[in-house]
Amino acid sequence: MATMIEGLETRTDEESLKTYGKDWTKHFTPKPKAIVFPKTTEQVRDLVLWARKNKTALVPSGGRTGLSAAAYATNGEVVVSLEKMNKILELNTLDQTIRCEAGVITEQLQKYAWDNGYYYPIDFAARGSSQIGGNVATNAGGIKVIRYGLTRQWVMGLKVVTGSGEILNLNKSLVKNATGYDLRQLFIGSEGTLGIITEVTLAVTRQPKEPVVLLLGTDDLNSIMEIYTAYRNSFNLLAYEMFTDVALKYVTAQGHGTAPFATPTKYYVLVEIEKETEEQLEKALEIFSELSEKGRVLDGTVSQSPKQVTDLWKLRENITEATSHKQPYKNDVSVRVSRVPEFLIEMSDIIKKEHPDFEVVWFGHVGDGNLHINILKPDGLSSDDFVKKCKQVDRVMFNMIERLEGSVSAEHGVGLVKKAFLSSTRSEAEISLMKEIKKVFDPDQIINPGKIFDL
Ligand code: MLT
Ligand code: ZN
Repeated sequence: MATMIEGLETRTDEESLKTYGKDWTKHFTPKPKAIVFPKTTEQVRDLVLWARKNKTALVPSGGRTGLSAAAYATNGEVVVSLEKMNKILELNTLDQTIRCEAGVITEQLQKYAWDNGYYYPIDFAARGSSQIGGNVATNAGGIKVIRYGLTRQWVMGLKVVTGSGEILNLNKSLVKNATGYDLRQLFIGSEGTLGIITEVTLAVTRQPKEPVVLLLGTDDLNSIMEIYTAYRNSFNLLAYEMFTDVALKYVTAQGHGTAPFATPTKYYVLVEIEKETEEQLEKALEIFSELSEKGRVLDGTVSQSPKQVTDLWKLRENITEATSHKQPYKNDVSVRVSRVPEFLIEMSDIIKKEHPDFEVVWFGHVGDGNLHINILKPDGLSSDDFVKKCKQVDRVMFNMIERLEGSVSAEHGVGLVKKAFLSSTRSEAEISLMKEIKKVFDPDQIINPGKIFDL
């Protein structure tokens, strides 16, 4: 192993195998053979050629914050960590782009953009550890999609090494490029199954004006979308998020914030707007009063300072961390925005009826139709039995998702976690085309095999 590729840092100690063999997904066991740390695209190419020759599978690995086990090595694979390829290479102020290596941390890129007068808008709670290459591989979404779209909209160019060992320089940062299939887009969201992303050119935009956050409480699920419509009709929302009283209970109990209202409500929505004029703030408050009069909103608070914006966001962003000790079984689904209440009401009723012992934390990006459903492990139930019971919920939920024409994964990806349910969202014809594409890019099946689907 040590002589795999001349000059390539390779680790096989137990600690590294355990750390780098997995991502944030629970309920899997990492079993990699080795971890390698390339520093250049050419080293990645040499590694892929070596892997083809030696019939060894590679698992591309970024910040390992994924939640679909796409970065797990469970079967003696070599993990390719991009963390040593962590340089920001170029800011082009005329093109409004930043070119960087794949291992740059999301927050570092965001900060670099901001310090240079720009804004990189893809944002989510794992920003401090996730890497740009991983964001591209999962087409990361997060909390600002409602305004700025997904990672896909911001990738202007990609350098990749395919599973056959070709280095491709895709799209070359062109705004317009009408020369056939856009292979760059194929790599975005491919979960590391077509090749290894080594360099990314991202668009950046103007910085938003002062953000203002409203946190509103309601006891009625249908009101969540009525509040959304009321604000969406008057503002270009920066975010529209939802969480429940159960989520808030864990966040406050873990010391991540304080309850916002004297009397708790069942549901909370976080509305973020860009305050371009004082009139806009007045408009936001006027909508709040109207919603209160109609009984749609029971209580609310509005940020008065950047610190209050941060504090209100903490109530939403710290849900994952505050519940992680309860070994949550996570789901991340989407339906069309208009179907959110129907899905939420039906699904929560089913879980309550069939699994009364389950505590469920609902939250998510409801403005995008994306819901996170986290079932917490009851004390006293073994992990295996818990997972078995959660899989029963999966079956019911994914049938419902299929009926509502939604997706079994809105933003976390398929990886290992959702592959048995891919056909709830994608047709057999689509899946077979995806498999053919995989074979073209990775003829020897050495790049992240077994993720998304089995061949
Ligand atoms: C979030 O929205 O906070 C993330 O998708 C993480 C999670 O679902 O735990
Ligand atoms: Zn999310």
